[in-house]
Amino acid sequence: MIEAFSKGGFSALGKIAIERLQANGIDGADIVQICCNNGQELLSTKELGAKRLVGIDGTEGFVVQGRELAAAAGIEAEFIASNIYELPDRYQEKFDIALVTIGVLSWMPELVRFFEIAAGLLRPGGLLLIHEQHPVIEMMEPGGKDDPVKFEISYFDETAYVDANGLDYYGGETYDATPNNSFIHKMSDVIMAGLGVGMAIQHFEELPDHISNTWYNVEASGIGMPMSYVLEFRKS
Ligand SMILES: C[S@@+](CC[C@H](N)C(=O)[O-])C[C@H]1O[C@@H](n2cnc3c(N)ncnc32)[C@H](O)[C@@H]1O
Repeated sequence: MIEAFSKGGFSALGKIAIERLQANGIDGADIVQICCNNGQELLSTKELGAKRLVGIDGTEGFVVQGRELAAAAGIEAEFIASNIYELPDRYQEKFDIALVTIGVLSWMPELVRFFEIAAGLLRPGGLLLIHEQHPVIEMMEPGGKDDPVKFEISYFDETAYVDANGLDYYGGETYDATPNNSFIHKMSDVIMAGLGVGMAIQHFEELPDHISNTWYNVEASGIGMPMSYVLEFRKS
């Protein structure tokens, strides 16, 4: 990936994220990505005209990778190693767009607090853009494309799932990580958490697109399950 970034013009953003960022005026915008991992998506917003780039991730190793990628690409970006729940106040109301992409919300133990923090980063009129995996697919057993689709857990199960592994997108290797709890946050919980902190929904779309690296069986089955969504909140 470092090679791809060093050549310039590389984008790790998918078509939908690009469309939504452009529709929401990424050109000239100050953007923060919450739980940015190694910053590959954040850095890709530069090509779309983003002005100030800030990435926050709780894993020091990913933040270091983000800085390396930024240096290789010659892009000015700030990477902050911080638990999102412990973010310093100096980032309050500094951004036009806050971006959250695949694989973030399920790691958040306190959804309302998460939305409070996300909204706090935005200037008045700012946008929280979420492009996430649809929680309904968490009900299914993950599998290869030839594996049958089986129901595994209830959509209404509030028990935390403990994961002790991490994936290094940069080197493509797995690594030992501090055990993390993940949750099925129902679609209604996500929507109500955003509304509950005073933001307004400006766009919501459930999509058939498979954006994880897990549910190939559900995708291949063609049963028409929503696999991802875009949800946009506007701060007043
Ligand atoms: C699946 S990744 C998101 C990846 C991103 N969509 C991408 O493609 O690069 C989730 C990230 O959330 C970070 N994370 C999880 N819990 C966090 C927390 N409480 N505070 C900050 N970062 C957190 C992890 O370190 C990880 O990099």
